[in-house]
Amino acid sequence: MISAILSASDTESIRRAARTIKTGGLVAFPTETVYGLGCDAMNANAAAKVFEVKQRPQFDPLIVHIADLKQLEMVIASLPAVGQRLIDTFWPGPLTLVLPKQPAIPDLVTAGLSTVAVRMPNHPVAQTLIREAGTPIAAPSANPFGYVSPTTAQHVADGLGNRVDLILDDGPCPIGVESTIVSLVGSHPELLRPGSITIEQLSTVIGSIHRAAPVNEIPIAPGQLSRHYATRTPVTILASTGARPILNDDERAGLLIFSHARDSDNRFTAVEVLSITGDLREAARHLFAALRRLDSLGLDRIYAEPCQEEGLGVAIMDRLRRCATP
Ligand code: TXA
Ligand code: MG
Repeated sequence: MISAILSASDTESIRRAARTIKTGGLVAFPTETVYGLGCDAMNANAAAKVFEVKQRPQFDPLIVHIADLKQLEMVIASLPAVGQRLIDTFWPGPLTLVLPKQPAIPDLVTAGLSTVAVRMPNHPVAQTLIREAGTPIAAPSANPFGYVSPTTAQHVADGLGNRVDLILDDGPCPIGVESTIVSLVGSHPELLRPGSITIEQLSTVIGSIHRAAPVNEIPIAPGQLSRHYATRTPVTILASTGARPILNDDERAGLLIFSHARDSDNRFTAVEVLSITGDLREAARHLFAALRRLDSLGLDRIYAEPCQEEGLGVAIMDRLRRCATP
Protein backbone atom coordinates (compact mmCIF):
# COMPACT_ATOMS: atom_id res chain seq x y z
CA MET A 1 0.00 0.00 0.00
CA ILE A 2 1.20 3.48 -0.91
CA SER A 3 0.30 6.83 0.67
CA ALA A 4 -2.09 9.12 -1.19
CA ILE A 5 -0.26 11.27 -3.73
CA LEU A 6 -2.26 14.46 -4.18
CA SER A 7 -1.70 17.06 -6.87
CA ALA A 8 -0.58 20.31 -5.26
CA SER A 9 -2.29 22.30 -8.00
CA ASP A 10 -5.56 21.53 -6.22
CA THR A 11 -5.78 24.03 -3.33
CA GLU A 12 -7.97 21.63 -1.33
CA SER A 13 -5.01 19.19 -1.32
CA ILE A 14 -2.76 21.77 0.31
CA ARG A 15 -5.47 22.54 2.87
CA ARG A 16 -5.79 18.87 3.68
CA ALA A 17 -2.01 18.60 4.00
CA ALA A 18 -1.97 21.62 6.36
CA ARG A 19 -4.62 19.97 8.56
CA THR A 20 -2.53 16.80 8.61
CA ILE A 21 0.49 18.79 9.84
CA LYS A 22 -1.61 20.61 12.47
CA THR A 23 -2.92 17.33 13.85
CA GLY A 24 0.53 15.79 14.22
CA GLY A 25 0.74 13.92 10.91
CA LEU A 26 3.48 13.70 8.30
CA VAL A 27 3.31 15.30 4.86
CA ALA A 28 5.88 14.98 2.09
CA PHE A 29 5.98 18.22 0.11
CA PRO A 30 8.00 19.80 -2.71
CA THR A 31 10.58 22.51 -2.15
CA GLU A 32 12.81 24.16 -4.75
CA THR A 33 15.65 21.80 -3.71
CA VAL A 34 14.26 18.33 -2.88
CA TYR A 35 11.04 16.91 -1.40
CA GLY A 36 10.84 17.25 2.40
CA LEU A 37 9.15 15.03 4.99
CA GLY A 38 7.32 17.62 7.07
CA CYS A 39 5.81 17.78 10.54
CA ASP A 40 4.78 20.54 12.95
CA ALA A 41 8.15 21.81 14.22
CA MET A 42 6.65 22.60 17.64
CA ASN A 43 5.31 19.05 18.15
CA ALA A 44 7.86 16.61 19.60
CA ASN A 45 5.65 13.54 18.99
CA ALA A 46 5.29 14.39 15.32
CA ALA A 47 9.06 14.92 15.06
CA ALA A 48 9.60 11.50 16.67
CA LYS A 49 7.55 9.97 13.83
CA VAL A 50 9.79 11.66 11.26
CA PHE A 51 12.88 10.03 12.79
CA GLU A 52 11.11 6.68 12.91
CA VAL A 53 9.83 6.78 9.33
CA LYS A 54 13.23 7.81 7.94
CA GLN A 55 15.12 5.52 10.32
CA ARG A 56 17.19 8.56 11.03
CA PRO A 57 19.53 8.51 14.03
CA GLN A 58 18.41 10.96 16.69
CA PHE A 59 21.76 12.74 16.71
CA ASP A 60 20.95 14.18 13.27
CA PRO A 61 18.78 17.30 13.67
CA LEU A 62 16.07 18.56 11.27
CA ILE A 63 15.78 21.79 9.28
CA VAL A 64 12.88 24.03 10.32
CA HIS A 65 11.05 25.65 7.38
CA ILE A 66 9.29 28.99 7.77
CA ALA A 67 7.04 31.06 5.52
CA ASP A 68 7.80 34.55 6.83
CA LEU A 69 9.99 36.52 9.24
CA LYS A 70 7.32 36.49 11.94
CA GLN A 71 7.82 32.73 12.18
CA LEU A 72 11.60 33.24 12.40
CA GLU A 73 11.04 34.75 15.85
CA MET A 74 9.32 31.54 16.96
CA VAL A 75 12.40 29.55 15.96
CA ILE A 76 15.58 31.50 16.72
CA ALA A 77 16.76 33.39 19.80
CA SER A 78 19.06 35.90 18.10
CA LEU A 79 20.37 36.96 14.70
CA PRO A 80 23.82 38.44 14.08
CA ALA A 81 24.18 41.23 11.48
CA VAL A 82 25.75 38.84 8.99
CA GLY A 83 22.65 36.63 9.27
CA GLN A 84 20.42 39.58 8.48
CA ARG A 85 22.47 40.30 5.34
CA LEU A 86 22.26 36.68 4.20
CA ILE A 87 18.49 36.64 4.80
CA ASP A 88 18.01 39.91 2.91
CA THR A 89 19.92 38.50 -0.05
CA PHE A 90 18.94 34.82 -0.24
CA TRP A 91 15.54 34.33 1.42
CA PRO A 92 13.18 32.99 0.40
CA GLY A 93 15.53 30.44 -1.14
CA PRO A 94 17.81 27.44 -0.69
CA LEU A 95 20.01 28.75 2.15
CA THR A 96 19.76 27.18 5.62
CA LEU A 97 21.17 29.11 8.59
CA VAL A 98 22.23 27.55 11.91
CA LEU A 99 21.42 29.95 14.75
CA PRO A 100 20.73 29.89 18.53
CA LYS A 101 17.34 28.25 19.08
CA GLN A 102 14.20 29.29 20.93
CA PRO A 103 13.46 27.06 23.94
CA ALA A 104 10.01 26.22 22.46
CA ILE A 105 11.59 24.18 19.66
CA PRO A 106 11.56 20.57 20.92
CA ASP A 107 14.98 19.06 21.69
CA LEU A 108 14.24 16.17 19.36
CA VAL A 109 14.03 18.55 16.37
CA THR A 110 17.51 19.95 17.12
CA ALA A 111 18.98 16.69 18.49
CA GLY A 112 19.51 18.36 21.83
CA LEU A 113 21.69 21.13 20.38
CA SER A 114 21.35 24.73 21.52
CA THR A 115 21.16 25.69 17.84
CA VAL A 116 18.54 25.25 15.12
CA ALA A 117 18.80 25.05 11.32
CA VAL A 118 16.19 27.26 9.63
CA ARG A 119 15.29 28.15 6.07
CA MET A 120 12.53 29.95 4.16
CA PRO A 121 11.88 27.97 0.96
CA ASN A 122 10.84 29.85 -2.18
CA HIS A 123 8.69 27.04 -3.59
CA PRO A 124 5.05 28.26 -3.75
CA VAL A 125 3.63 24.93 -2.54
CA ALA A 126 5.97 24.82 0.46
CA GLN A 127 5.14 28.43 1.29
CA THR A 128 1.38 27.90 1.07
CA LEU A 129 1.57 24.72 3.12
CA ILE A 130 3.54 26.38 5.95
CA ARG A 131 1.26 29.42 5.92
CA GLU A 132 -1.94 27.32 5.95
CA ALA A 133 -0.57 25.11 8.73
CA GLY A 134 0.21 28.27 10.71
CA THR A 135 3.34 26.71 12.20
CA PRO A 136 6.97 26.25 11.20
CA ILE A 137 7.48 22.84 9.55
CA ALA A 138 10.44 20.65 10.47
CA ALA A 139 11.48 18.59 7.46
CA PRO A 140 14.43 16.48 6.47
CA SER A 141 14.66 15.25 2.90
CA ALA A 142 11.88 12.66 2.33
CA ASN A 143 14.07 9.59 1.84
CA PRO A 144 15.21 6.72 4.06
CA PHE A 145 18.27 7.88 6.05
CA GLY A 146 21.47 7.86 4.01
CA TYR A 147 19.80 7.29 0.61
CA VAL A 148 19.66 9.67 -2.37
CA SER A 149 17.25 12.60 -1.77
CA PRO A 150 13.91 12.60 -3.65
CA THR A 151 13.24 15.11 -6.41
CA THR A 152 9.80 13.77 -7.41
CA ALA A 153 6.70 12.61 -5.51
CA GLN A 154 7.25 9.13 -6.95
CA HIS A 155 10.76 9.01 -5.43
CA VAL A 156 9.14 9.71 -2.04
CA ALA A 157 6.60 6.93 -2.52
CA ASP A 158 9.35 4.53 -3.67
CA GLY A 159 11.36 5.13 -0.51
CA LEU A 160 8.79 5.71 2.21
CA GLY A 161 5.75 3.87 0.83
CA ASN A 162 2.72 4.19 3.09
CA ARG A 163 4.60 5.50 6.11
CA VAL A 164 3.72 9.10 5.20
CA ASP A 165 0.16 10.37 5.68
CA LEU A 166 0.16 12.09 2.32
CA ILE A 167 2.44 13.24 -0.47
CA LEU A 168 1.89 16.57 -2.22
CA ASP A 169 2.98 16.31 -5.86
CA ASP A 170 4.15 19.34 -7.79
CA GLY A 171 6.40 17.64 -10.32
CA PRO A 172 10.20 17.58 -10.29
CA CYS A 173 12.05 19.99 -7.98
CA PRO A 174 13.45 22.94 -9.97
CA ILE A 175 16.95 22.91 -8.39
CA GLY A 176 17.55 19.28 -7.43
CA VAL A 177 20.32 19.52 -4.81
CA GLU A 178 19.77 20.40 -1.17
CA SER A 179 20.11 23.82 0.40
CA THR A 180 23.46 25.27 1.40
CA ILE A 181 23.94 25.17 5.20
CA VAL A 182 25.85 27.99 6.92
CA SER A 183 26.43 28.06 10.66
CA LEU A 184 26.42 31.49 12.28
CA VAL A 185 27.02 30.41 15.88
CA GLY A 186 30.83 30.41 15.88
CA SER A 187 33.27 33.32 15.71
CA HIS A 188 32.97 33.35 11.90
CA PRO A 189 30.42 31.91 9.42
CA GLU A 190 31.09 28.30 8.55
CA LEU A 191 29.90 26.31 5.53
CA LEU A 192 28.52 23.01 6.87
CA ARG A 193 27.12 21.72 3.57
CA PRO A 194 27.70 23.09 0.06
CA GLY A 195 24.41 23.32 -1.83
CA SER A 196 22.20 25.29 -4.17
CA ILE A 197 23.46 28.71 -3.11
CA THR A 198 27.05 28.67 -4.32
CA ILE A 199 30.16 29.66 -2.39
CA GLU A 200 30.66 32.43 -4.97
CA GLN A 201 27.16 33.78 -4.19
CA LEU A 202 27.80 33.65 -0.44
CA SER A 203 31.09 35.46 -0.76
CA THR A 204 29.47 38.42 -2.49
CA VAL A 205 27.68 39.02 0.83
CA ILE A 206 30.07 37.81 3.54
CA GLY A 207 33.47 37.54 1.88
CA SER A 208 35.40 34.29 2.03
CA ILE A 209 33.82 31.49 4.03
CA HIS A 210 35.45 28.71 6.00
CA ARG A 211 34.36 25.19 5.05
CA ALA A 212 33.89 22.64 7.81
CA ALA A 213 35.71 19.35 7.18
CA PRO A 214 33.47 16.28 6.74
CA VAL A 215 33.56 13.82 9.62
CA ASN A 216 32.84 10.12 9.98
CA GLU A 217 30.37 8.36 12.28
CA ILE A 218 28.98 10.57 15.07
CA PRO A 219 29.21 14.07 13.66
CA ILE A 220 30.58 16.85 15.85
CA ALA A 221 28.68 19.31 13.74
CA PRO A 222 25.83 17.12 12.43
CA GLY A 223 24.97 16.81 8.79
CA GLN A 224 28.50 15.99 7.75
CA LEU A 225 28.53 12.21 7.65
CA SER A 226 30.89 11.40 4.83
CA ARG A 227 28.73 8.53 3.49
CA HIS A 228 25.30 9.93 2.75
CA TYR A 229 23.10 10.54 -0.29
CA ALA A 230 24.28 7.07 -1.28
CA THR A 231 23.10 4.53 -3.84
CA ARG A 232 23.11 0.81 -3.01
CA THR A 233 25.27 0.23 -6.09
CA PRO A 234 28.94 1.13 -5.51
CA VAL A 235 30.02 4.36 -7.19
CA THR A 236 33.48 5.15 -8.56
CA ILE A 237 34.37 8.69 -9.60
CA LEU A 238 36.52 8.74 -12.72
CA ALA A 239 39.86 10.56 -12.73
CA SER A 240 38.82 13.28 -15.14
CA THR A 241 36.15 14.47 -17.53
CA GLY A 242 36.20 12.22 -20.56
CA ALA A 243 38.03 9.37 -18.75
CA ARG A 244 36.52 5.90 -19.17
CA PRO A 245 37.21 2.78 -17.07
CA ILE A 246 38.43 -0.60 -18.27
CA LEU A 247 35.52 -2.96 -17.62
CA ASN A 248 35.83 -6.63 -16.73
CA ASP A 249 34.30 -8.99 -19.32
CA ASP A 250 31.19 -9.73 -17.31
CA GLU A 251 30.91 -6.37 -15.53
CA ARG A 252 27.51 -4.68 -15.79
CA ALA A 253 28.32 -1.02 -15.36
CA GLY A 254 26.47 2.27 -15.49
CA LEU A 255 27.97 5.56 -16.63
CA LEU A 256 26.99 9.03 -15.35
CA ILE A 257 28.39 11.88 -17.45
CA PHE A 258 28.12 15.63 -17.87
CA SER A 259 28.18 15.84 -21.66
CA HIS A 260 27.80 13.80 -24.85
CA ALA A 261 28.06 10.03 -24.73
CA ARG A 262 30.53 8.47 -27.21
CA ASP A 263 29.90 5.54 -29.52
CA SER A 264 32.15 3.35 -27.37
CA ASP A 265 29.94 4.06 -24.35
CA ASN A 266 27.54 1.40 -25.63
CA ARG A 267 29.60 -1.11 -23.63
CA PHE A 268 27.90 0.29 -20.50
CA THR A 269 24.59 -1.27 -19.54
CA ALA A 270 23.14 2.22 -19.05
CA VAL A 271 24.37 5.76 -19.64
CA GLU A 272 22.91 8.85 -17.95
CA VAL A 273 23.79 12.21 -19.48
CA LEU A 274 23.20 14.95 -16.89
CA SER A 275 23.42 17.82 -19.36
CA ILE A 276 24.40 17.57 -23.01
CA THR A 277 25.64 21.16 -22.96
CA GLY A 278 27.49 20.73 -19.64
CA ASP A 279 25.12 23.16 -17.91
CA LEU A 280 25.56 22.63 -14.16
CA ARG A 281 22.04 23.80 -13.29
CA GLU A 282 20.56 21.24 -15.61
CA ALA A 283 22.98 18.62 -14.26
CA ALA A 284 22.01 19.37 -10.64
CA ARG A 285 18.32 19.09 -11.53
CA HIS A 286 18.86 15.64 -13.07
CA LEU A 287 21.49 14.25 -10.68
CA PHE A 288 19.42 12.38 -8.07
CA ALA A 289 16.86 11.00 -10.55
CA ALA A 290 19.71 9.71 -12.75
CA LEU A 291 21.43 8.07 -9.75
CA ARG A 292 18.16 6.43 -8.76
CA ARG A 293 17.55 5.08 -12.27
CA LEU A 294 21.04 3.60 -12.41
CA ASP A 295 20.64 2.22 -8.88
CA SER A 296 17.44 0.39 -9.88
CA LEU A 297 19.21 -1.72 -12.55
CA GLY A 298 21.14 -4.05 -10.25
CA LEU A 299 24.47 -2.99 -11.79
CA ASP A 300 27.85 -4.06 -10.46
CA ARG A 301 29.11 -0.49 -10.39
CA ILE A 302 28.29 3.06 -11.41
CA TYR A 303 31.14 5.13 -12.90
CA ALA A 304 30.66 8.89 -12.57
CA GLU A 305 32.51 11.55 -14.49
CA PRO A 306 33.65 14.45 -12.30
CA CYS A 307 32.55 18.00 -13.10
CA GLN A 308 34.30 21.32 -12.56
CA GLU A 309 34.19 22.32 -8.91
CA GLU A 310 32.82 25.77 -9.47
CA GLY A 311 29.39 27.18 -8.72
CA LEU A 312 26.86 24.36 -8.39
CA GLY A 313 29.65 21.93 -9.32
CA VAL A 314 30.86 22.07 -5.69
CA ALA A 315 27.54 20.70 -4.38
CA ILE A 316 27.31 18.13 -7.19
CA MET A 317 30.82 16.78 -6.50
CA ASP A 318 30.14 16.81 -2.73
CA ARG A 319 27.10 14.54 -3.27
CA LEU A 320 28.95 12.29 -5.72
CA ARG A 321 31.92 11.89 -3.36
CA ARG A 322 29.68 10.99 -0.44
CA CYS A 323 27.90 8.51 -2.68
CA ALA A 324 31.28 6.99 -3.61
CA THR A 325 32.52 6.71 -0.01
CA PRO A 326 32.51 2.98 0.86
O1 TXA B 1 17.24 21.51 0.76
C1 TXA B 1 17.15 21.09 1.90
O2 TXA B 1 17.82 21.53 2.83
C2 TXA B 1 16.14 19.96 2.17
C3 TXA B 1 14.73 20.52 1.99
C4 TXA B 1 13.66 19.52 2.33
O3 TXA B 1 14.59 21.70 2.72
N1 TXA B 1 16.30 19.42 3.47
C5 TXA B 1 17.35 18.64 3.82
O4 TXA B 1 17.27 18.13 5.10
O5 TXA B 1 18.27 18.38 3.07
P1 TXA B 1 18.18 16.98 5.68
O6 TXA B 1 17.64 16.64 7.00
O7 TXA B 1 18.27 15.89 4.72
O8 TXA B 1 19.55 17.67 5.91
C6 TXA B 1 19.64 18.68 6.89
C7 TXA B 1 21.01 18.77 7.44
C8 TXA B 1 21.35 17.52 8.22
O9 TXA B 1 22.53 16.96 7.72
C9 TXA B 1 21.54 18.04 9.64
O10 TXA B 1 22.54 17.38 10.32
C10 TXA B 1 21.86 19.52 9.42
O11 TXA B 1 21.07 19.86 8.34
N2 TXA B 1 21.46 20.28 10.60
C11 TXA B 1 20.22 20.44 11.09
N3 TXA B 1 20.23 21.16 12.23
C12 TXA B 1 21.52 21.47 12.48
C13 TXA B 1 22.20 22.20 13.50
N4 TXA B 1 21.54 22.76 14.53
N5 TXA B 1 23.53 22.32 13.42
C14 TXA B 1 24.22 21.77 12.37
N6 TXA B 1 23.64 21.06 11.38
C15 TXA B 1 22.31 20.91 11.42
MG1 MG C 1 18.78 14.29 3.71
